[in-house]
This record gives sequence, C-alpha cells and structure tokens, in this order.
Amino acid sequence: MSASFSSTPRTALVTGAGKRLGREIALGLARAGWRVAVHYRSSEAEALQTAADCMQVFAQWQAQAGLKANASDASNASVADTGTQIQLQNFIFKADLTNEEATRKLLPQVVSQLGRVDAVINSAALFEHDDVQSFSYANMAQHWASNTGAAIVLAQALHQHCQARGAQAAEAVVINMLDQKLWNPNPDFLSYTLSKAALEAANTLLAQALAPLVRVVGVAPGLTLTSHMLDDDQFQKLHTLSPLGRSSTVEDVVSSVVFAVHNRAMTGTTLLVDGGQHLMKFERDFSLM
Ligand SMILES: NC(=O)c1ccc[n+]([C@@H]2O[C@H](COP(=O)([O-])OP(=O)(O)OC[C@H]3O[C@@H](n4cnc5c(N)ncnc54)[C@H](OP(=O)(O)O)[C@@H]3O)[C@@H](O)[C@H]2O)c1
Repeated sequence: MSASFSSTPRTALVTGAGKRLGREIALGLARAGWRVAVHYRSSEAEALQTAADCMQVFAQWQAQAGLKANASDASNASVADTGTQIQLQNFIFKADLTNEEATRKLLPQVVSQLGRVDAVINSAALFEHDDVQSFSYANMAQHWASNTGAAIVLAQALHQHCQARGAQAAEAVVINMLDQKLWNPNPDFLSYTLSKAALEAANTLLAQALAPLVRVVGVAPGLTLTSHMLDDDQFQKLHTLSPLGRSSTVEDVVSSVVFAVHNRAMTGTTLLVDGGQHLMKFERDFSLM
C-alpha cells in the first residue's frame, strides 16, 4: 500500500497500543479524527483489535465531518473477516523497543506504509519490580531501552521525517507518558522510576532540541489501571488516596493526551493528571501498599 502525503490524514503512532492505556489513547485519537498506527511487541491479536476499533471510530468521525471514508478505513472492520485482516495488518507495527535496530525502523515503516506521521505517543513501558537490593545493570538496561531510549529514538525519527517533508513549525508532537511517582517518589520499582525520571529530563531536552518542528509534552497519570499485584478491592481503595478523593481515570488520561496533541503552544512541559497524588507522600509503590 502506498499513499501520497497530501491526500493522507494526520496520523499518530501509539506505542504499546494493543492493551490498556495505549489502546485507549489510540481510540481517543481516532475519535478526534486521527488515523492510528498501532505498535505492539507481543500482543498481536489485541493490536489487530485496536486497529479494527480505531478504523471504525475514525470512519465514523470522517462521516460526521462530511468527509468521504477511505476505502481502506472500513467502517465495519471486524478482525474475524479475512479481507479486513489483511487491511488491518497495514495498521499494526511490531517492534521490541529494547532492540535499537527494530526501534529505528519503526517510524520509517509507518511512513512508508501510511504516508506520514504527525504524532508519536510513547506509551509502551516496562514496569518490573526491583529495589536497591535487587538492582542490576541488566534490569536497568531493559527499563532504559524500553522506557527512555526508544522514546528518544522515536522523537528523533519524527523530527527527521518532519525535516524531510518540509513540515511547518509545531506541526508534529511527541507525547511521553510519565508517572506521578516522579514527584512523589519512593524507592520501589527503582529501575522503572529511574527510566521515567530520565524520560522526564529528556522531555525538556527534546523540546529544546526539536523545536520548532516538533513539540514534546509529558503526561503523568496517577494510579489509573490496576496491576497484577493488586486485587480489585485494593485498587479501588488506593484509587481514592488523593487530595481530590480519586486518582485519574482512563478518560482523564486520554483527554489530556488528546488536548496536548492539539494544543500547538505547549512544549517542554508535563500535565500531571492524578487527582493530586503528586502532592502526597507514599512510602511504597501502589502495587506494594
Ligand atoms: N497504568 C497506570 O495506572 C499508569 C500510571 C502511571 C503511569 N503510567 C504510564 O502510562 C503508560 C501506559 O501504561 P499501561 O499500564 O497501559 O502500560 P503497560 O500495560 O505496563 O504496558 C503497555 C505495553 O507496553 C508494551 N511494552 C513493554 N515493553 C516493551 C518493549 N520492550 N517493546 C515493545 N513494547 C513493550 C507491551 O506491549 P505488548 O503487550 O505488545 O508486549 C505492553 O502491553 C506507561 O508508560 C506507564 O508508565 C501508567
């Protein structure tokens, strides 16, 4: 499939979009009129489902906006249908972000497949427990590559793509998913926290280096989705632990990402979307409370 730049809709690459927040961000962008390239590593079936759902939502947006739906953006996309499966394969992109070569190929692959990229949402993340006793170079390197290095490589690739296509100022944006715990630290999940702290610093440095073509904005959720370490009751209780009596919902996070993507004056800053959890002091990570 090839597409000429001027006739293609604005396109967002969302990493880790097979499941959870990445999937919801992809759908939120599709509802706002974005075509979405769905990145995944191991969740292929889920990525196909996200791509099908985004296509459907995007086609509805096009219809409401009075635009003719593209033949490839089927409004009744279903992953069960073989023809649709083949189309959907054009919208999903597999890469292990710990592999630099694969990560470097990712955005150019989306450009060659879909014609353009205007936004990168760095949502994929490794979140594995360690602490100062169990810390190792190996674990840190995995977190660094998945959560920090990949986000920088994708920002760099977006900037190069914008230069190559002669983009205008503030035409493209990178959203880095951060975490309220950077402002409310505890020593649990040490490598994860360090990798996100480095990404928060990179958020500023990239905004400086990639202006005027590419804006760079952080979005830092509070406890939004549960983890395998919490049961439902524990999650519900922890979710109320904030000055506002509730942490962030999926809708809060998605609407903040969509806002940051559209607001052409924002760069080098972070939206904390956490019910104020960053104003509190927790001794342990939520998963261990
Ligand atoms: N959930 C929350 O409450 C919360 C709170 C604060 C901050 N955040 C941040 O928000 C973002 C999304 O959170 P989430 O809970 O939805 O994330 P998640 O479920 O922990 O991970 C999302 C996806 O990241 C992908 N991933 C992990 N390592 C990868 C690698 N090496 N290469 C490629 N993909 C990789 C996985 O894709 P596959 O399944 O395809 O392998 C996974 O499904 C993260 O950056 C997180 O730090 C989330």
